[in-house]
Amino acid sequence: MKNSKGSLWREYMLPFALLLGLLAAATLAGDYLLHRLDLVWVGRYLGIPGTLLIIGSLYYSARKRKWVTTGEPKTLLSMHEFSAWLGSLMVLLHAGIHFNAILPWLATVAMGVNVISGMVGKILLRQSRQHVQGEREKFQLRGLSKAEVEQAVFWDAVALGAMTQWRRVHIPIFIVFAVLALGHIVSVLLFWGWA
Ligand code: HEM
Repeated sequence: MKNSKGSLWREYMLPFALLLGLLAAATLAGDYLLHRLDLVWVGRYLGIPGTLLIIGSLYYSARKRKWVTTGEPKTLLSMHEFSAWLGSLMVLLHAGIHFNAILPWLATVAMGVNVISGMVGKILLRQSRQHVQGEREKFQLRGLSKAEVEQAVFWDAVALGAMTQWRRVHIPIFIVFAVLALGHIVSVLLFWGWA
């Protein structure tokens, strides 16, 4: 990591603040518009595509564990970040400012913590990639194609210590969120008389 304060802010804090700020601003603006246009019912249904986007974003984890072999890991991680971010925005609009029961709110809070933790992971990964890239350049990896070097650097960065420790926190947070969200979904289905 570069040690000047300016680059710490520009390279790490600013992208984090932008991702989070944009999510908060889009949630507030979206909620306001839905209320202004009398489309609160649309917001209610956003929970479904939002959840599907979040579930779809987990394809990256399946690729990482080699359960599936299709897709370039780096692109899939970017898709994970984007779809989980967009899916969370939809779920936040779905939650709105309505308060009906505790369980959905616990699920929403867990999702919020999950998203923020995901953003912290993104910043950590950037830092460890820069570190690994520096190491690679020192050893002058020869004989591998550019794409192969890129992929090796990517996996090394993902496996680096700070990322491994972060995952020890992030994955349990994700499990709490998944259990609460599932509880909420099952109770809604029961309420609707579908199950
Ligand atoms: C509801 C939202 C989210 C959920 C449920 C979620 C879930 C997960 C899970 C389960 C992992 C572990 C991957 C693995 O090791 O198999 C992960 C990793 C990661 N997530 Fe998210 N995430 C969410 C949002 C985000 C957001 C918004 C970002 C960034 C903008 C993000 C960035 C990352 C990064 C960088 C990793 C690390 C990749 C790795 O360790 O290989 N996540 N996420």
